[in-house]
Amino acid sequence: MCGRGPVAIMPRYAMSHTYLTCGLCDSRDAPADALWCPQCNGPLDVAYRSLPRGLEARDGLPGVWRWWDRMPLHEEGSLISLGEGNTPCLHLEQAGAGLGLRRLYAKVEYANPTGSFKDRGTAVMLSMVREMGFSEAVDDSSGNAGASLGAYASRGGIGAAVFVPAGASPFKISQIGFYGADVRPVEGPREGVTSAAREYVAERGAFYASHNWSPYFIQGMKSFAYEAVREAPGPIDHVVVPAGNGSLVIGPARGFAELVLEGAVPRMPRFHAVQSRSCMPVVAAWRGQPWTVDDLRPTVAGGIAVSTPPRGAQTVETVRSTGGTAVAVEEESIVRWQRALARDEGLFMEPTSAAAFAGLESLVGQGVVGPDDVVVVPVTGFGLKDRVPSSS
Ligand SMILES: Cc1ncc(COP(=O)(O)O)c(C=O)c1O
Ligand SMILES: [Zn+2]
Repeated sequence: MCGRGPVAIMPRYAMSHTYLTCGLCDSRDAPADALWCPQCNGPLDVAYRSLPRGLEARDGLPGVWRWWDRMPLHEEGSLISLGEGNTPCLHLEQAGAGLGLRRLYAKVEYANPTGSFKDRGTAVMLSMVREMGFSEAVDDSSGNAGASLGAYASRGGIGAAVFVPAGASPFKISQIGFYGADVRPVEGPREGVTSAAREYVAERGAFYASHNWSPYFIQGMKSFAYEAVREAPGPIDHVVVPAGNGSLVIGPARGFAELVLEGAVPRMPRFHAVQSRSCMPVVAAWRGQPWTVDDLRPTVAGGIAVSTPPRGAQTVETVRSTGGTAVAVEEESIVRWQRALARDEGLFMEPTSAAAFAGLESLVGQGVVGPDDVVVVPVTGFGLKDRVPSSS
């Protein structure tokens, strides 16, 4: 359990428009600053006592805060924003034609302020951290979440410490440090990075602002759905995402579910989670096959190399509930798509992001995605964040 902010903030939460629930044991008792369920240690989610009808953006508020009525913050004075969200949604004619798809759309999430989709989640998570009165946020990250945390912490006047695998992309590590965050590389397996972060949190009484555990990070990710429904040429049939811990499945699916419930959108899209064959715990769980850390192999898709995802079961459950699938792709196919999208569509993405398109190719091959389906793929991280393959 992480340290608490000033006691004065707590009465506000007794009157809150939200509360935290546990998807595993149904407990509703977790305090607002909990990261996992006090009863069963399961991941927590934000529930709303009421939500507005209709998708009205709030004029005058920046970034994801345009969706203020669907967000967990209480006071506008606590919000932190760098103008995240509102990313381009591009029709991919060439890439679509190659796959036999007429209505393929890329939502260019690397147009977010730190170059990755993580900014949607971080804006909400760190604003909550600030509102709850914490002065230091700690995360463990393979790079993009850490960079995002560094930027939003700096913007919000919060201290940040980020634990990273020593072998993470040097470009991402430099970016984190450049925002002024305390970068702490950790040798050894990814799990050790998480343990080091947790030990530091326990010692310092800082807040463990884990993008993998935080229920507030998921809330920021809902904004992807609010934008996509307005931008797509009709009801979306498929959303295809690279999945490590699954925030691009769980968050947007929550957003769509709200809109379906209100009748603003006719049906849920099918969510498809794509992983590298080198690290595929979610795909294995979806298939009902065993997978352990011993099966882990090196992959170019470092952002989705999460061998024990805290929200893995929730990701599988969300995929299943939308009628989607989980797909594993080869390294060769990831690199081929990274190159093809740069050459054919002008989209320079990191390999992790290209994995989603490799997965889409597989889904088309299986007949899961058809020629007239409306397909949206988030392009999650910018190409210069990772090692760039040679141009030939
Ligand atoms: C570029 C990129 N795409 C996709 C993901 C996957 O996000 P998640 O772990 O929430 O599934 C990450 C995570 O770090 C990432 O950096
Ligand atoms: Zn529980």
